[in-house]
Amino acid sequence: MAKLTLRIHPDPILREISKEIEYTKIISKNIQELIRNLRDTMIQNNGIGLAAPQVGILKRIFVVYTKNGIIAWINPRILKKSFKKNTAEEGCLSIPQVFGKVKRHSKIKISAYNESGAKKIFTAEGLYARVIQHEIDHLNGILFIDKASEITQGRDKLDQYEGK
Ligand code: CO
Repeated sequence: MAKLTLRIHPDPILREISKEIEYTKIISKNIQELIRNLRDTMIQNNGIGLAAPQVGILKRIFVVYTKNGIIAWINPRILKKSFKKNTAEEGCLSIPQVFGKVKRHSKIKISAYNESGAKKIFTAEGLYARVIQHEIDHLNGILFIDKASEITQGRDKLDQYEGK
């Protein structure tokens, strides 16, 4: 299993905006290998989601655990957000041992390409909706600590990462 190196906060690459992948290139060897590597890296680090910038690749792609296994989504766009939001605790493989409460839309409608290059439109709710919003934030250089109303665990770790 090819393991990619996780970028850890405050690595500046985590603050960059990732670029869309031309959809005809999704089935290329290069992107298919990236998807495999993202999946392996997420599994090895016990994550439930992982975005390409977290391994230093500024492309709009992430992998996520679902009830149907691990799925990759490419060039995701949020088409609709529920008015209703909910708050829950989140963590991130790029900010190890830090957790905080984040308010997110309860339900979202998404368009994205799957790993075969097919465009899909779907709705997500609950934890799945939360993870997708978290991963799309990564593609825009946003981390959960930017949105957290409260750091519930690992305040000292966070200060350490940030050299405080
Ligand atoms: Co994250």
